[in-house]
Amino acid sequence: MAQWTLFPIQPVCAGFTDRLSVSSWVMDETTLVLIKPGGVSRNLIGEITRRVEARGLRITGLKLVQAARATVEEHYAEHKERPFFKDVCDYLTSGPIVCMAVTGTNAVKAIRAMMGATNPLDATPGTVRGDLALTIDDNLTHSSSDDGAAERELKLWFPEGTVR
Ligand code: CMP
Repeated sequence: MAQWTLFPIQPVCAGFTDRLSVSSWVMDETTLVLIKPGGVSRNLIGEITRRVEARGLRITGLKLVQAARATVEEHYAEHKERPFFKDVCDYLTSGPIVCMAVTGTNAVKAIRAMMGATNPLDATPGTVRGDLALTIDDNLTHSSSDDGAAERELKLWFPEGTVR
């Protein structure tokens, strides 16, 4: 989900500072992160949110929920025909999860890169999955794959909206 924010740019040329007033429009995006039941039960909520904030992104929605089966099935609708669909839905409803809206410049791509490859065995060290996870079934987080998915998933998990 994209929104525009006006950021003043400091002119780089000394001497022009008090005469120039330059501004630029920078694109803010909001994306969805879910911390899955394994991340909650392993007490990794703080570690994962710390990494998001340390990157310079803002948390604009945050809640702990026991997800309804229907919500999870809608969330993973694109995987309905995949063999892991039932297991992933069982898993997401097996315990509390954290729903987080994250906002900032290039937030969708930045968050995907920070979380690492879907299969933790392929995830680079330094990413959440590369540092903290071992199996694809419990890869700790879900994050929106692109801007369209972010918009759809944020509406699903935050029907009440998020803050700015
Ligand atoms: P996630 O990013 O939440 O999207 C779908 C989830 O299904 C994925 O993370 C994995 O946790 C899980 N999954 C299990 N098996 C597979 C698979 N073979 N390919 C992709 N995702 C899988």
